[in-house]
Amino acid sequence: MAGVGSAYAIRVRGSSTVGTMQGIRGAWRRTAQGAGLIGDDGGIRPTIFAEMSALAAQTNAINLGQGFPDEDGPREVLEAARAAISNGVNQYPPGRGAPDLLHAIAEHQERFYGIALDPHRDVIVTAGATEALAAVLLALIDGPDDEIVVFEPFYDAYAAVVALSGARLVTVPLRWPDFQPDLDALRDAVTDRTRIILVNDPHNPTGAVFSGAARDEVVRLAERHDAVIVTDEVYEHLVFGDAHVPIATLPGAWGRTLTISSAGKTFSTTGWKIGWVSGPAALIDAVLAVKQFLTYVNGAPFQPAIAAGLRLPDSFFTGIADTLRAKRDILGAGLRRAGFDVSSPSGSYFTVADAAPLGVTDAAAFCRELPARVGVVAIPLTAFVVPAHRGEYATLVRFAACKRVEVLEDAASRLALVDS
Ligand SMILES: Cc1ncc(COP(=O)(O)O)c(C=O)c1O
Repeated sequence: MAGVGSAYAIRVRGSSTVGTMQGIRGAWRRTAQGAGLIGDDGGIRPTIFAEMSALAAQTNAINLGQGFPDEDGPREVLEAARAAISNGVNQYPPGRGAPDLLHAIAEHQERFYGIALDPHRDVIVTAGATEALAAVLLALIDGPDDEIVVFEPFYDAYAAVVALSGARLVTVPLRWPDFQPDLDALRDAVTDRTRIILVNDPHNPTGAVFSGAARDEVVRLAERHDAVIVTDEVYEHLVFGDAHVPIATLPGAWGRTLTISSAGKTFSTTGWKIGWVSGPAALIDAVLAVKQFLTYVNGAPFQPAIAAGLRLPDSFFTGIADTLRAKRDILGAGLRRAGFDVSSPSGSYFTVADAAPLGVTDAAAFCRELPARVGVVAIPLTAFVVPAHRGEYATLVRFAACKRVEVLEDAASRLALVDS
């Protein structure tokens, strides 16, 4: 979708007429609408991430917008991928995933969380967490009366895929500055119409790690209303306090929970798109029924490489959290010095800052100006909420801390000029 402009023109089949998107029927429209990307002319606008990354390139600004690291991940993982290519691991892997990776995922879940998985029945490998999410929602949604409860702000793919699935999105607010779920609002949101409660913990874009009370309430409500819990845990190893607690480990949760994760964030391999989903075999089979007709399989030589990554010693996993915590602190201190109010993320790549003390009333406009003003790119939180709720997040901005220390220090010194 990135880079597709509203003036996007197509050649209509069987004629030489050039039309616009407006005349094209199909699910693209509700998908784009779900993501808030339909422009005034009825065409699709680029995402804010594409817009901001283009601005970063144009202005030579430091890109703290999109969440990708600017350093390679562990050498062992990169070398394992090179070796796999050299050794001929270049054809379709099995539909559920390469056995070595399926075993490594099961070992990882046992080692870190005490979850016992049958690697051949309870796990499938996907094209990143994004495909896992799409396959899960498309597999489990049965029509327009199904509702999906999400915590807002949310990762932008959620609303798009919910809209594609045809279900109704029901939001529960996470509010500045700690972004913990409002439990009363959660109780109001979950009903017998709820098919899925979609959790993202640690959370993008806020960096929140859900409290034990919030996790317990999700499980209690899912049991009471017979909903499936889908939990996106791609930042599971990037937590700055207590160890990550997967919802699937809570009493009563396992039988109704699908856990999604990905190698991208843990091993700084966001471009490899190796993800996975794990849970009870019957739910996994339902997801596989759809997934096998989306990508079928992907990333043959990357799968054994990620298996090697998942088997790295504990010191690797504590090391990446420690490193990112230090980066969060550098970024946070820089933002505070520049005059922002700054939240305290407990996990993920991201820090949210309030630009209101700088006199900002519209963070989207502020973010569009920021590259030219000081040479830094960031994303307004309004990009992660439904249009009706943008006002509640109007002055908040997301900055990514997953960059080299010298880049963050440079960004901090540039941001110090923002008020001048
Ligand atoms: C919360 C969340 N879920 C899923 C993804 C996508 O993961 P992947 O690149 O593995 O598809 C991201 C990437 O930014 C994310 O932040």
